[in-house]
Parts: sequence; C-alpha cells; structure tokens
Amino acid sequence: MRSIVIVGCTSGIGKALAEELLRRGNKVGGAARNEGVLREMEKVHKGRFTGEVLDIRDRDQVPVKMEALVDRLGGMDVCVVSSSITGQNPDLEWETERNVLETNVLGYAETLVWAAHYFETQSRGHLIGITSLAKYLGGKNPSYPASKAFEGRYLDGLRFRLEKKGITVTEIMPGFVKTPMTADREKMFWAISVEKAAHCIVKAMEKKKRKAVISARWKPFYFILPHLPYWILKKIL
Ligand SMILES: NC(=O)c1ccc[n+]([C@@H]2O[C@H](COP(=O)([O-])OP(=O)(O)OC[C@H]3O[C@@H](n4cnc5c(N)ncnc54)[C@H](OP(=O)(O)O)[C@@H]3O)[C@@H](O)[C@H]2O)c1
Repeated sequence: MRSIVIVGCTSGIGKALAEELLRRGNKVGGAARNEGVLREMEKVHKGRFTGEVLDIRDRDQVPVKMEALVDRLGGMDVCVVSSSITGQNPDLEWETERNVLETNVLGYAETLVWAAHYFETQSRGHLIGITSLAKYLGGKNPSYPASKAFEGRYLDGLRFRLEKKGITVTEIMPGFVKTPMTADREKMFWAISVEKAAHCIVKAMEKKKRKAVISARWKPFYFILPHLPYWILKKIL
C-alpha cells in the first residue's frame, strides 16, 4: 500500500485516478478547492482518503497545506499534479489569461517544487505531472497551451535534478478526455473516458515512465504535432 497525493482530485482525471488508486488498495491524499467533494470522498473512502482544501494560486498556502495533508496521510510515495484550468477567451481578457497562468504555471510549479524537496529529503519518490498534447499547438486561447508547454519543460528540468537522486519524474500527456474541462468542446475525437485515462496513468506510474501519451493511439501525434506547418495549424485550430 502506497501513500499517494493527488493535487486536483475533485473532478475529471484526478478524481478518477484517486478512485482507481483507492480501489487498488492505496491510501490517497487529495487537494483542491472544492471542499464539498473532498468531504464526500472522505466519507465514501473512510480512513483511506484524506482531503485538504487548497487553492494552488494562494502561494503561501501551498507549502502549509501540502505539509498538513502529507502529515495526515502519514507520508508520501507518489505525488500527482493534475490541477489546471482552461477557458474560452475570445476577447483576450487579461484577467482570464492571468488566472490560467497563475494556476497552471505558478501554482503548478510551486506544488511540483514542494513535492521535489519532500522527495529529496526522503531520497525516494515519484513525481507525476499531467500536461497535454495541446502544448504543441498554440491555439486561440494562448495561455492554456503555453502553460502546458511550460509544465512539460519544467518537469524535464526537475527530472535532470531528481533522477540521479533516485526520484522518478513522469509527464502524462493526454489527448482528449471526457471531463468537465472539455464538456463544452464541440470538436473532439478519440476522446477517452476518465476511467480509461486513470488506467493508462496507473500503467505509466507502474512502469516508471518518463513520458506517457494517453491513450496509446495518440502516440504518433507526439512526434507529428511539433512539426506541423502553420497552414495546417490554421485549418485545425
Ligand atoms: N480533459 C482533457 O481532454 C485533457 C486533455 C489534456 C490534458 N488535460 C489535463 O488533465 C488535467 C486534469 O484535467 P481535467 O480534464 O480532469 O479537468 P477538470 O475536470 O476541470 O479538473 C481539474 C482539477 O483541477 C483542480 N483545480 C483547478 N484549479 C485549481 C486551483 N486553483 N487549486 C487547486 N486545484 C485546482 C480542480 O479542482 P477544484 O475546482 O476543486 O479546485 C479539479 O480537481 C489538467 O492538467 C488538464 O490540463 C486534460
């Protein structure tokens, strides 16, 4: 039985992953803003799930809340950072852009750094970040794909530092997954369920992969997308 922390566990991929890991007999500590969902998960998985209300944009709160969560969980073997937001922003309003960047860049990185220090102190651990294949695409809402590119590069940098200390760093790059985040999307193909996404993440976790594209059928896009010419991007975005 491992102690696994999931930041962004109240919805979509993070919630399905928490449930899959609990089904497999692990203890899970979950952090996110939605206290109602956290308390409900504590009730359903009594004694094996513990929740901490955390808004990763509240930067002085990240270390405090993560420490409290890991203390209650009794340690941390794996930390998954799934928290991110997106949103339509046709008028390119700065408030919307800033919110995405504060969450997906600053909050996400601060959470990774806290976990990296924790794992360095105990000389073992597995850090997992969920990014996206969208990081290769630019797009009409620039902050989201740009933030995902940042997250991927940040994980690459942490891997250089942590791997030689025996700590694994995994980047999970989903294609489309049916979650509240994508609920209002009109065009989606090869979209998988959250259960399937959770299953793929557990497989990557067990194999200690450095990078995993989920589901497997999206793998060719990992090689193709970074090289697409602008005229094709204009047609598909
Ligand atoms: N769905 C897809 O097709 C898809 C594709 C590629 C990549 N991804 C990535 O997969 C990850 C999960 O996305 P999802 O589709 O499962 O989205 P989701 O259902 O909207 O879940 C997002 C999670 O992030 C948490 N979160 C958002 N803002 C937060 C904040 N300020 N502080 C703490 N937690 C926060 C949310 O919890 P609270 O609201 O309770 O805070 C929720 O648990 C994201 O990194 C996303 O970029 C998704």
